[in-house]
Amino acid sequence: MARTEPRTAANQLKCPVAVEDVDLFSPGAQEHWYEAYPILHANSPVHRIPGEGAAPGTDGFILTKYEDILRVVRDPDRFPPGLTTPPKPNPDGTMPQMNAMMVSIQSLRPNEDLWRAHKAELTDPWVGTGATRHHDMIGDAANGLIDNWIDNGKVDFVNEFARLLPQIVMANVLGFPHEDIPRMEMWGGAQVMAFVYGHGHRNLLTPEQTEEQMRLLAGFKEYVADWVTEKRKNPKDDMISWLTQVTYGALNRKLTDTEINGIVYAMMIGGLETTQYAMAEQAQLFCEDPALYQTVRNDRSKLRGFIEESLRLRSPTQGLSTRTTIQDEEFQGVKVPAGSLLHMRWAAGNRDPEEWECPHDLQLDRKGVTRHLTFSQGSRSCPGSGISRQEQLIAWNVLFDRIEAMQYGEGNTFEHQPGIMLGLFKLNLNFKKAG
Ligand code: HEM
Repeated sequence: MARTEPRTAANQLKCPVAVEDVDLFSPGAQEHWYEAYPILHANSPVHRIPGEGAAPGTDGFILTKYEDILRVVRDPDRFPPGLTTPPKPNPDGTMPQMNAMMVSIQSLRPNEDLWRAHKAELTDPWVGTGATRHHDMIGDAANGLIDNWIDNGKVDFVNEFARLLPQIVMANVLGFPHEDIPRMEMWGGAQVMAFVYGHGHRNLLTPEQTEEQMRLLAGFKEYVADWVTEKRKNPKDDMISWLTQVTYGALNRKLTDTEINGIVYAMMIGGLETTQYAMAEQAQLFCEDPALYQTVRNDRSKLRGFIEESLRLRSPTQGLSTRTTIQDEEFQGVKVPAGSLLHMRWAAGNRDPEEWECPHDLQLDRKGVTRHLTFSQGSRSCPGSGISRQEQLIAWNVLFDRIEAMQYGEGNTFEHQPGIMLGLFKLNLNFKKAG
């Protein structure tokens, strides 16, 4: 999907200096998220957004404290996640249209136990704990991309590496041919449209945007359905083939075509762009501190710590409004009535000074380094964290092997795309090829 042009200085928000200035959601807010978080922590750690709840007359609340966010995500019974709430009928009695992912959530994992089983049985073997099976494939994909520009001494790291690697990896995992990657990119872009172009903390699309989203997604369901049919007949070594064969133990049955279609939708919505953002932030951290690049390059045992700290410091998904209150609650002394919509600001919790010593510093040997909120925590946490971590780990190992040193190149604006993800449009780097 075509991206909008970077915004100019003229339409950026001013840097906040007081809580009244804080606005995390207006166009341009991306440029000052990390100035806003300490202000919220100090003055309004549970920040009310009047009238911005899920239903009319209710409010939204931004949670920025690590302990509050953890409490919410670890207790899905008390703070129900929106994704599993069954859809309500329209005023005229008809049911709202649901995409295949929503349909498959209702049939395969409508409650907590099945959510866990779904992860353990259906996604973990491919993109979770079992993601190590893709080690060589990811390394080959990373090397293949680097071959395209290694002799140039410069690269747009976003558009010639970080965006492309997860696309190739997910095409291989799912079993889609590489010539279809441009279509996958378009469909993936349409699926995440609300998180990029949506309005406010609820990521609301206008009716025109929704229409555009539907137009762009036309053909996706049929495309996946055709592959499901083909792979049922001629299974190969890929996730879709496997899903056509597997018995889902928790329900003691095979999956329907629509359910597989829904799982593929979920893999694409989560798996394409997020890891791109992580790797682009990591490259910036290295350019900002060239000695850090050398330290990790020379001692690869430090790479895992670097990746976790970068995910904590520069969270790709900054926040999501995906939990509600079903009874009156209190966080940090602030009363949050039943029926409120909670915006979990993962990125702010990751810099909470009450949880993290020197929260803004990257510490390679930080204790409990994986307890950050970037993938959320608990049973509902990101099912693709395993493959994302694998991609980052392998990508940097390959980059270290082939690149001796890197620095910022010419023409960077460091402007971020709109929406809730921390994403640069481009990142020009100059580098010295390893001898
Ligand atoms: C750096 C990369 C990534 C980040 C920061 C990230 C972050 C997140 C977060 C914060 C959630 C919400 C969890 C909650 O509500 O408690 C989530 C959910 C999800 N993620 Fe990721 N994610 C990443 C990569 C991936 C990948 C690679 C995939 C797929 C291969 C994926 C698939 C999903 C799915 C399907 C969900 C929805 C929950 C579910 O259906 O079980 N994510 N992710």
